[in-house]
Amino acid sequence: MKDIKKPSVTGLEGVVAADTAISLVDGDKGHLVLRGYWAKELALKHAFEEVAHLIWRGSLPSDDQFNQLKKKLANERDLPEYTINILKQLPEQMDMMSVLRALVGTFVLEGARWPPTLDQAVAITAKIPTIIAYRHRLIQGKALVAPKANLSHIENYLYMLSGEAPQPAHVQALEAYSILTMEHGMNASTFTARVISSTESDIVSAISGAIGAMKGPLHGGAPSGVIEMLEEIGNKEQVEAWIRGALERGERLMGFGHRVYKTHDPRSLALKEMIGSLEGQDEWLDLAYEVEKQAVELLEEFKPGRRLYTNVEFYAAAIMRAVQLPEQLFSPTFTLSRTVGWTAHVLEQAENNRIFRPQSTYIGRTPN
Ligand code: ACO
Repeated sequence: MKDIKKPSVTGLEGVVAADTAISLVDGDKGHLVLRGYWAKELALKHAFEEVAHLIWRGSLPSDDQFNQLKKKLANERDLPEYTINILKQLPEQMDMMSVLRALVGTFVLEGARWPPTLDQAVAITAKIPTIIAYRHRLIQGKALVAPKANLSHIENYLYMLSGEAPQPAHVQALEAYSILTMEHGMNASTFTARVISSTESDIVSAISGAIGAMKGPLHGGAPSGVIEMLEEIGNKEQVEAWIRGALERGERLMGFGHRVYKTHDPRSLALKEMIGSLEGQDEWLDLAYEVEKQAVELLEEFKPGRRLYTNVEFYAAAIMRAVQLPEQLFSPTFTLSRTVGWTAHVLEQAENNRIFRPQSTYIGRTPN
């Protein structure tokens, strides 16, 4: 028998997996462009439904199209009775991302088979906030709050969670966050969705799979890790010692680093700008600013030349905290917005499909 070779761990870095017209992520310049528009401008000036229209259909909507999409999303918010029954049966200890993955998997959509349709994309996007809100209220032993058709996507989400009209500043902040995180090139969960779709499997399977990929702490699970880290650090005096300790133990700092961005993540910069105007978290934010400052310096000391800065998750944690979302809703809320990007990629994959089938290098033993 010949020897086993050393594995090379590439994570497909630099490999182009598909052509896309949906978004451009330029990691050296720190640019994020969604269908020809700067993501930050979209986040500051447009509504969730307008940008969803842009991502799905390639152009910003006319007033008529905007109203139609709002109506369509509102019409699709209710969950089927059987899904609510399953939701009630799920064990309490099941985390919210697993609940989402399981319940999206129960959807029976019109024309459920491949190729996927825009109506299916809208239906899945519309129902995800309802699953999150219903599960959240069930866990708390509270009555379910049915969706309200006259509220926007984000406004309705916050309303279903609390049962009260949300503050306009909270709606605005979460809407901007949702737009900034709606779509981001060939990230792990989007790639997962495209791989599943490339087998001509249905859109429900593609999105359930994407949720599974999103759940991991190296991807969508990071913002709650940021809160945990800041809570452990506790105060500004502890920052340096805590970060040094973590880096000496070889741990990763949550909310820092990115496969593509080798400069500041533009989403992180935009969120940082936005949170300044939100009230009620001054002390926490002071600590976050200090952690960012010292972490960037210490990461350069421990990992010279790797160019590690905050990613979107670092300040996402601050936004979610400011709009009073509990930690267990951070990754699900990210999922709520990214569903638009996933479904757009599933539709794009179907336009010009070829099954994904990469190869592997065999490094095991070979017979003599
Ligand atoms: N803390 C400490 N060191 C880090 C971090 C970090 N957050 N990120 C990267 N590094 C180090 C790595 O250990 C590696 O060191 P080495 O060269 O000595 O081996 C070097 O920097 C390069 O990192 P890679 O492993 O090549 O980074 P990769 O592209 O594989 O991973 C990732 C990117 C997963 C985002 C990584 O930076 C990380 O784990 N960050 C923390 C988790 C996080 O914040 N995830 C959210 C990402 S944004 C999103 O998914 C929406």
